[in-house]
Amino acid sequence: MQRNEATDRIYQLEKELLDLRENAASFEDLIMSSPIGVYRTTPDGRVLVANQALAELMGYASVKDLLQQNISEQGYAIDDYRSIFKETIERLGRVTGFESAWRRRDGSLIYVREYARVVRDESGAVIYYEGTIENITEKTKTETLLKESLRQIRRTFQELVETLSEAMNIRDPYTADHEKRVAALSYAIAVELGHSDGFANILRTAALLHDIGKIYVPAELLSRPGDLRKEEMDLIKVHAEAGWEILKNVSFDQPIAEMIRQHHEKLDGSGYPRGLKGDEIMLEARILSVADIVEAFSSHRPYRPAFGVAHALDQIEHMAAEGKLDRKVVAACLRLFREKGFVLP
Ligand SMILES: [Fe+2]
Repeated sequence: MQRNEATDRIYQLEKELLDLRENAASFEDLIMSSPIGVYRTTPDGRVLVANQALAELMGYASVKDLLQQNISEQGYAIDDYRSIFKETIERLGRVTGFESAWRRRDGSLIYVREYARVVRDESGAVIYYEGTIENITEKTKTETLLKESLRQIRRTFQELVETLSEAMNIRDPYTADHEKRVAALSYAIAVELGHSDGFANILRTAALLHDIGKIYVPAELLSRPGDLRKEEMDLIKVHAEAGWEILKNVSFDQPIAEMIRQHHEKLDGSGYPRGLKGDEIMLEARILSVADIVEAFSSHRPYRPAFGVAHALDQIEHMAAEGKLDRKVVAACLRLFREKGFVLP
């Protein structure tokens, strides 16, 4: 290599080194000015590198005050958080979105989210952890408030449904608690059929309101002893469609109004109000229908004595054989009473 060429090469290498240093410095600036906390710590938690955002997050005036502190001892509000963090990062090599509660220097509590990785030497020994910490206290507080509001709304909704159901008892005291018992049985059948608690709860709500349309039926007709004439029966039958009419504009998560509209339909098309057949009738309505019949036959009515549960079960078995009721739903209901000791509340 000529002397001049060697000088040029040295000059070039020096320039590349300078560029690298500048790049590293500007990258360090970027980290130091990041609004998210950045750190590097020894595995036992001693701070080796930190930025201003992390110092502020931990309640220190400057990075210098924070360096050499042990954030694992001071930081995690509960020791369990630290052990879960250590166990995860050393097993997986990283933690992603790890959320925990931290104590700041003044003792106040904050919620943070961490992304971090473990750096090892050639022998596999841990040299340090490095990562980011984000303060999510406000977000966590807002989420907690929202969850509490949602719980409150659900509670209020449930109480309204139960109150509405109770209100029907005033007009029709002879069938008091009919809806409650149908609700308990519908819920149990849904669970016996392997459906989720969510599905069963929706059914419970529909059952609590299934006869709300009887508000359209004259009270004396509901409680009159003796057989009803055909016109009177027709008037009572209006309640299924009326129930749908009352509830159709309520924004339930599920089509509860439609379940109620179909609760007197029969699979062979002999039911009312629309004479729907087979798959036209939704599963929820098929369950309601079975529970409704069992409860009605088991209980006393103004125009007849109670037939008892055994008779009620024979009745649905017979109706399933005739193709009127869903066989699987009926089988589940029979299992509940005959094998699993279910009793109507
Ligand atoms: Fe009904």
